[in-house]
Amino acid sequence: MNISLSPSLLSADFAKVGEQLTILENAGTPYLHLDVMDGVFVPNISFGIPVIKSIRKASNMIFDVHLMIVNPEKYVDEFRAAGADIINFHVEATDDPSGVIQKIKSSGAKAAITLKPKTPVSAIEPYLADIDMVLVMTVEPGFGGQKFMEDQMDKIKTLAHIREEKKLAFDIEVDGGIGLDNVSAVIQAGANVIVAGSAVFGAEDMAKRVKDFIKIFEEHQQK
Ligand code: DX5
Ligand code: ZN
Repeated sequence: MNISLSPSLLSADFAKVGEQLTILENAGTPYLHLDVMDGVFVPNISFGIPVIKSIRKASNMIFDVHLMIVNPEKYVDEFRAAGADIINFHVEATDDPSGVIQKIKSSGAKAAITLKPKTPVSAIEPYLADIDMVLVMTVEPGFGGQKFMEDQMDKIKTLAHIREEKKLAFDIEVDGGIGLDNVSAVIQAGANVIVAGSAVFGAEDMAKRVKDFIKIFEEHQQK
């Protein structure tokens, strides 16, 4: 399975964002992870539709939009129109996950479902055949730069097991506290889309950091 990096824009320097996106893209970064927070679903507010629309003009990366908002169904079409390629919503944020998945798919975006650290895999299991990607949160959503929660490893392994057993094809994305030191462990557990915020945007040489991640991915892919 192809392993890809999805740097989280939350840790970008917004005074230099165009420049930083060019560095990432030139270094071979396939995805950009965009954390949208409404101050209700999570205790923080980040950015939304106008910002995504604006940076869409500055990047050809796959826009992986992580919605940490209540009532995600309300805004699917707007995020798609702004440039989202993948729309990720939280299972805890809606009473009708199937409806949200259908709405995302009809918009033309890929559908992904996300769960908070305390939410069990059983909460998303009924939807696994219908989605393109599962996002496993390895920190409590809301802030960049937090410590990786080791106890989420089993969740990644369980999802990889289900994927194999049921012959499904969803990607497993991991988000929170991931750096060069622990990325191999999450890949071994079964993850193949790797979000990294502070580990990428906080690096002195971002291009080198991206290449260091890609080198590790290639080592795993050769196995
Ligand atoms: C947290 C966000 C993450 C965050 C990751 O709610 O979903 O995407 O930006 O940042 P790091 O990699 O610094 O933990
Ligand atoms: Zn995220």
